[in-house]
Amino acid sequence: MEKNIAVIKGDGIGPEIVTEAMKVLDAVAKKYNHKFNYTEILMGGCSIDAYGVPLSDEALKIAKESDSVLLGAIGGNTTTSPWYKLEPSLRPEAGLLKIRKELGLFANLRPAYLYDELKGACPLKEELTEGGFDMMIMRELTGGLYFGERSTEKEGDQMVAHDSMSYSEVEIRRIAKRGFDIAMKRNKKVTSVDKANVLDTSRLWRKVVEEVAKEYPEVTLEHMLVDNCAMQLVRDPKQFDVILTENMFGDILSDEASMVTGSIGMLSSASLREDSFGMYEPSHGSAPDIAGQNIANPIATILSAAMMLRYSFDLDEEAKAVEEAIEKVLKEGYRTTDIMSEGKTLVGTREMGDLIVSHL
Ligand code: NAI
Ligand code: MG
Repeated sequence: MEKNIAVIKGDGIGPEIVTEAMKVLDAVAKKYNHKFNYTEILMGGCSIDAYGVPLSDEALKIAKESDSVLLGAIGGNTTTSPWYKLEPSLRPEAGLLKIRKELGLFANLRPAYLYDELKGACPLKEELTEGGFDMMIMRELTGGLYFGERSTEKEGDQMVAHDSMSYSEVEIRRIAKRGFDIAMKRNKKVTSVDKANVLDTSRLWRKVVEEVAKEYPEVTLEHMLVDNCAMQLVRDPKQFDVILTENMFGDILSDEASMVTGSIGMLSSASLREDSFGMYEPSHGSAPDIAGQNIANPIATILSAAMMLRYSFDLDEEAKAVEEAIEKVLKEGYRTTDIMSEGKTLVGTREMGDLIVSHL
């Protein structure tokens, strides 16, 4: 199989961690006889330095014409970097918002997986996480409250602000289908999270999700109110497989779920649409405090590359091989600083990448 991947290394630790993910992809290509062609493009602060804009039209064109995008992270130190003296539309983050919008990525996937080897970092009581947990939060990314009409105006003698939330059947159906497709590749359970006891958008959400569920008789569907879900995530995280939810609920719940795993350097993510195209990136930022020191954990980015193999290229066996290689390296006791604990062996960014490659 031959695929064209647009690579955005970005700022801060971005270049270091993406280099390791590319090493792993190359090892997969060699072992399984595929060909991955990379085209590097600039986005974020490095693009501002080179072209004066966080994402150029040429860079966007290359991303659009590729089969998928691998992204490190963008942004610098938000108090000291000159990038943050620019107007908002010219700052690094504007590149990220623009590329997501232009590529039409409406589904954001964030796995929360507790590695047996790292359970010491999990803030929950041990009996709650015995045997680990493995869930996937699927968040709608382009609708809802964050994209509704908003205003702030004077009413009488005080200011009043409005944000409006709307969802169409089309918007709900396409993310629900994606969620059920992904559940079919996993443990065949979908928990749809809403606030249907209060919100009209949630009642429509529930109705459309139930219609989509009829096309997937093998998948178990349950509905959960968002406040209850927030509790259940810390009460019994093992009950979840795929959590399917709208934009704002997903924003909050995905951060909650990821912190239950305890390790920011291990959290991958994918942003998808109807076809096989996707953008893959770690959940963390550009970590300017540790950039250029060969200490950043590359695993979140390598796991994101594994998601690319699975969700964009349909290479499930290859994705599993990468995930198992990571698991083996952790089992052997190798750790970057962010996941270091007593009795383990400290390694740098490059060494971690090499170890994972050696297990492939
Ligand atoms: P951050 O995620 O970059 O860092 C938070 C803390 O976690 C820092 O102490 C950092 O050293 C550590 N950390 C993050 N990733 C790590 C890794 N792979 N290995 C070891 N330690 C790691 O968040 P922060 O500091 O709030 O933001 C820094 C910059 O990143 C800002 O400019 C922000 O706007 C940007 N950012 C970019 C994102 C993206 O490109 N998608 C997402 C989040 C933030
Ligand atoms: Mg968030």
